Amino acid sequence: MTTTDDHAQKPPRKDPWELPDVSGLVVGVLGGTGDQGRGLAYRLARAGQKVIIGSRAAERAAGAAAEIGHGVEGAENAECARRSDIVIVAVPWDGHKALLGSLREDLAGKVVVDCVNPLGFDKKGAYALTPEEGSAAEQAASLLPDSRVTAAFHHLSAVLLQDPAVESIDTDVLVLGEARADTDLVQALAQRITGMRGVFAGRLRNAHQVESLVANLISVNRRYKAHAGLRVTDV
Ligand SMILES: NC(=O)c1ccc[n+]([C@@H]2O[C@H](COP(=O)([O-])OP(=O)(O)OC[C@H]3O[C@@H](n4cnc5c(N)ncnc54)[C@H](OP(=O)(O)O)[C@@H]3O)[C@@H](O)[C@H]2O)c1
Repeated sequence: MTTTDDHAQKPPRKDPWELPDVSGLVVGVLGGTGDQGRGLAYRLARAGQKVIIGSRAAERAAGAAAEIGHGVEGAENAECARRSDIVIVAVPWDGHKALLGSLREDLAGKVVVDCVNPLGFDKKGAYALTPEEGSAAEQAASLLPDSRVTAAFHHLSAVLLQDPAVESIDTDVLVLGEARADTDLVQALAQRITGMRGVFAGRLRNAHQVESLVANLISVNRRYKAHAGLRVTDV
C-alpha cells in the first residue's frame, strides 16, 4: 500500500523533453571529411554550434573545413578529439576499431556519439553485419572505457545534410546510451538541427537493430528514389 508519505518522497518524474543547453559545447567529428561527417558538421555549424572536423590528415581536414565554412575548423583526428566536448564518430566500419583504439586517451571523459552502420553490400543490396561485440556502438564502448559512449545519427541522409537548399530535415534521431545525462545531451544536440527531434531509444545493447535498420532504409531509398528518414509516432 502506498501512503501520502511515499508519494512525497518520490521525486517528480522528469519531463523527457526537458533537455540541457548544448549551444556552448564544441562538437568534433572524426572522419569529418566524408559525406556523413561533412553533412553533420555543416548542419550543426549552420545552427551556431562550434565544430571541428577531424581527419587522418590535418590538411584534408583544413580543406574540408574551409569548404563547409560557418566557422568550422579542421584538425587531425586526435587533436579534434582533445579539443571537443562531444565527439561524433563518422568513419567507415572498416576503420572503426583501429581508429577508436588509437584515441582512447584523447577521448577520455568525452561524450562519444557513434553513428557507424556496419553493413555489407552484394548484388541483392545492403545487409547488416553483426560485429563480434554486438554493434559498432558496443565496440566503441569496449574500446573507450573512459568515455561516455552513445549512439545516434544512423538514419540521416548525407545528401540532405549537405544540401544548403534544404532548410529543414524532418526526421527523428534515435539516441542510445547508458546514462540519461549523456543521451539527454545528444538528444539536445540533434535538436539543434532544424526539423530534427532526438528520441531516447534504449541502451547500447539495443544498438545493433538501430544500426541494421539502415539496410532497410537503403532498400526504401532505392525503390522510391528517396532520402528516407524515420518518425517515431505517439511520442
Ligand atoms: N553517408 C551516409 O549517408 C551515412 C548516414 C548515416 C551514417 N553513416 C555512417 O557514417 C560513417 C561515415 O560514412 P561516410 O559515407 O561519410 O564514409 P566515408 O566518406 O567513406 O568516410 C568518412 C571519412 O572517414 C575517413 N576514413 C576512411 N577510411 C578510414 C579508416 N580506415 N580509418 C580511419 N578513417 C577513415 C576518411 O577521412 P580521412 O581520409 O580524411 O581521414 C573519410 O573521409 C559510416 O560508418 C556510415 O555507416 C553514413
